[in-house]
Amino acid sequence: MNDFGYLGEDTVYLDAACQSLRPRPVVEALERYYFEHNSCGERVKYPWGEKTDELVEGARRKVLKMLKLKSKEYFVSFTLNTTYGINLILNELDPKCVKKVVTSEIEHNSPFLATMALSERLGVPRVVLKRDENGALLMGDEDFAGAVVVVNCAANFDGRRLGNLKEVVKRVHRDGGIVIIDAAQAMAHYYEMLEKTEADAVCFSAHKMYASSLGVIVARRGLVPKLKQTFIGGGMVDDVFEERYLLTAEGNKDHIYTVFEPGLQAWGEIVALGEAIDWLSARTKEDKKRLESCTRELDEFLRSREKIHMVGNEANPTMSFYVEGLDSHLLGAALGKEGIMARTGYFCVHYYLDKVMKLPPLVRFSLSYATREGDVEMVKKVMGKI
Ligand SMILES: Cc1ncc(COP(=O)(O)O)c(C=O)c1O
Repeated sequence: MNDFGYLGEDTVYLDAACQSLRPRPVVEALERYYFEHNSCGERVKYPWGEKTDELVEGARRKVLKMLKLKSKEYFVSFTLNTTYGINLILNELDPKCVKKVVTSEIEHNSPFLATMALSERLGVPRVVLKRDENGALLMGDEDFAGAVVVVNCAANFDGRRLGNLKEVVKRVHRDGGIVIIDAAQAMAHYYEMLEKTEADAVCFSAHKMYASSLGVIVARRGLVPKLKQTFIGGGMVDDVFEERYLLTAEGNKDHIYTVFEPGLQAWGEIVALGEAIDWLSARTKEDKKRLESCTRELDEFLRSREKIHMVGNEANPTMSFYVEGLDSHLLGAALGKEGIMARTGYFCVHYYLDKVMKLPPLVRFSLSYATREGDVEMVKKVMGKI
């Protein structure tokens, strides 16, 4: 059965970089949680709770397995989204460990603003490094001693990638810094890039990788001693006295993930993430080929038009452009009227797209495994007409 069969023939969804469409098995897993074992995870002893525990634990294991990471070195915590994960880590880093903060020019506002806030709060310098046209970080002779580096693995406007990811992590660690990777756009298309990563933390949004709305932090166990927990509450303490408490993450290595999980979690969404990982890992060569060929065809069509200006040089499932003499927002609305759902504007990358590149607002098509050959034909037809 087609897992996106609920999508009408005349509906073209090209906004997967924001949230992917959810395949039916993922929605069914969420439904099963609500209809069959709605319960709080990691606290209750009745059968529904045991079922939830098993699936939540499974989801943590699947994230590590997907990235080929060992549980003795890394753990998985759940949050709201990528933005929340990055902010949470930056806010909880012990100020003693932070001498400067480094990011790059092509970041989403999520790390771009969070690094600004950290620099202001701690009164430490903030450095914005350039990336080359393919996405590699240009480190020059930057000294990363005491630096917290937050950079994306793939950009959300043309999918350019951090090709020198391994080198970045090595170099920052050699100097004594911390690396946090924004993998929001990497997990649906390029999670292999993060396999066996040695980064200190990787943050991503499950809703961009065919799962329900949820944030994920994959963190190195060694990061925890560099934190000063300030966001504290239920589910993360082992004992409480009148004036002090015993944090679970400090004393219980099997539950170290509680360090980023204050309060009750989105158990159903966590369960659905486990299902989405299975689904994503089961994509066949044909699925990949179809996505590649839809990407290539749409990219070639757009590049062949004299008045269309693409951002970036390479075909990518996430592509942005503007049409000379045509307002992107008007174009987006016109596409919408024809059933084509695409994004317009700067996609939260105001600094790079607007201030550095001085581009007008753009249109973004972001393809996914839900994209059908007919969708590309429809876009070509409607774009031609417009
Ligand atoms: C590269 C990148 N980083 C961070 C984010 C923020 O993700 P969220 O809004 O899920 O926190 C996005 C969202 O589009 C993104 O594309």
